[in-house]
Amino acid sequence: MSVHDCQLVELPVIHAPEGNLTFVEGGRHISFDIARVYYLYDVPGGAKRGGHAHKSLEQLIVAMSGSFEVLLDDGSERRSVILNRSYVGLRLVPMVWRELVNFSSGSVCMALASAPYDEADYYRDYEDFRAAAA
Ligand code: TYD
Repeated sequence: MSVHDCQLVELPVIHAPEGNLTFVEGGRHISFDIARVYYLYDVPGGAKRGGHAHKSLEQLIVAMSGSFEVLLDDGSERRSVILNRSYVGLRLVPMVWRELVNFSSGSVCMALASAPYDEADYYRDYEDFRAAAA
C-alpha cells in the first residue's frame, strides 16, 4: 500500500434549498463495511493528531466542518492532502503513516473505520513503522 492508494472519494450530495445531505454506504462508496465511527473536535490551534500507521485498518476521513491537512507517508513517499468539504472523503489504507495538522477553528474530522478500536493494530513508533514498511 502506498500514499497513492489514499485517494479522495467524492460522496453523493442531495442538494436542497433547505440544505444539503451527504451519505456514505459501506461496500459502495468505500470498499469496507463500517464497523466504527469516531470524530475529532475541539482540536486546539496548532495541535497535531494521528502520528501513527495501522497494520490492517482501513478508514475514510471527512472534514465535516472546517478544514485540516493530512500528511501521508508510506516509508518511501510523502503526500499532503487538504480536506475542507463535507462531501469529500480521503481513503486511508493500512501501512501509511498519517498526521493531521492545521485544523481550522471549529473543525470536525469524522472517521469511518473497517474494524473496532484495537491498539494492537497501531504502529505508534515511526522507526518501527519504517522498518515494517521497508
Ligand atoms: P488515536 O487513534 O491515537 O487518536 P488520533 O489518531 O486522532 O490522534 O487515539 C487517541 C486515544 O483514544 C487513544 O488513547 C486510543 C483512544 N481511542 C479509542 O479508545 N477508541 C477509538 O476508536 C479511537 C480512534 C481512539
